[in-house]
Amino acid sequence: MPNTILITGAAGFLGGLLSAALIADPNTSNVRLILVDIVEPKAPTSAQAVTIEADLTVKESVDALFKTEFGVPDTIYCLHGIMSRGSEDNFDLGLKVNVDSVRLVLQAAREFGTQPSIKFILTSSLAVYGGPLPHTVTPDTIATPEGAYGMGKLTSELFINEYTRRGFIDGRIMRLPTIVVRSGAPAAATSAFISGVIREPLKGIECLCPIGNSMDSPELDLPLWVASPQTTIKNLVIAKHVHASKLFRHTRVICLPGFTATVREELQALEKIGGKAALDLVQFKDDSISRRLVSSWPSRFDNAYPLSLGFLVDEGGMEPIVRRFQKDIEAGIA
Ligand SMILES: NC(=O)c1ccc[n+]([C@@H]2O[C@H](COP(=O)([O-])OP(=O)(O)OC[C@H]3O[C@@H](n4cnc5c(N)ncnc54)[C@H](O)[C@@H]3O)[C@@H](O)[C@H]2O)c1
Repeated sequence: MPNTILITGAAGFLGGLLSAALIADPNTSNVRLILVDIVEPKAPTSAQAVTIEADLTVKESVDALFKTEFGVPDTIYCLHGIMSRGSEDNFDLGLKVNVDSVRLVLQAAREFGTQPSIKFILTSSLAVYGGPLPHTVTPDTIATPEGAYGMGKLTSELFINEYTRRGFIDGRIMRLPTIVVRSGAPAAATSAFISGVIREPLKGIECLCPIGNSMDSPELDLPLWVASPQTTIKNLVIAKHVHASKLFRHTRVICLPGFTATVREELQALEKIGGKAALDLVQFKDDSISRRLVSSWPSRFDNAYPLSLGFLVDEGGMEPIVRRFQKDIEAGIA
């Protein structure tokens, strides 16, 4: 039996990495990919794939994804979206893409899916949290977002839980830590600087740090909840393999494992790997809007539940991540 997997947002940063990882996954044989994005996605070489350029806010475009030569997918990775700052700056677009179009994909999965239900994996975010938070977020912590992006993600999560409860789909909601280091061009995300302050200087390019005004600023002690792209992609593949009976009955939310690093620790790792010349390329200009949003996100989670399900966590803090990114630059793949 072929494994037919639909990835929305397949031209994006995680979508591209995930396509390649699914093709290489030893636990998923005979993979066929349906890749869709508003920008034409590229399929990994040698993959059995159809690539579709489509706007997923249009119902007909969504329905067409279930009528390709590969038929109805058995797994959907719903990755398309408008990132945090993009949703904050354009509220209507954020709602249309992060909520309305996700609902269209869910509804199509319900209508076209047969038994067993389609596995529907959503990439959500720690931006669903805000307000007063405990020292460590646990699965019992209530999500009260303080921004349009988190509100949109949380709304889609509620639909997925209810569609799962009704047996329309087999939902799995992955709340991702902030991914560092993100390769490619800077994203329209409030968190973009978290990768930018490593990526740009290691490439010899100046970058702006919107937290603090110098290396001595106390604002740099702002803690962040982060994970590497490599571990996150492995975890997204694992998300498809976890048996539904192991998941909580009342919610399909899983906060993927991460670790806490401060902005200062990031910059110290940059200096250690890239030298003082790299650190000197970081310019500081404190931006209160970005700082307010990032400060509202939690920075410590209890990893026990995801680890018990077999998900993975980065070891060794920021340094191995920065070192690996430098190697990727040297290899011409970052
Ligand atoms: N990268 C991170 O740090 C991070 C953290 C938490 C959650 N996430 C979530 O993971 C997912 C993927 O993140 P990413 O970093 O790859 O983002 P990305 O911005 O690189 O990719 C998102 C993709 O969605 C596509 N898209 C936007 N509107 C669309 C539409 N109307 N129709 C079709 N496609 C559309 C974009 O063209 C883009 O290629 C997103 O849902 C994001 O919210 C990412």
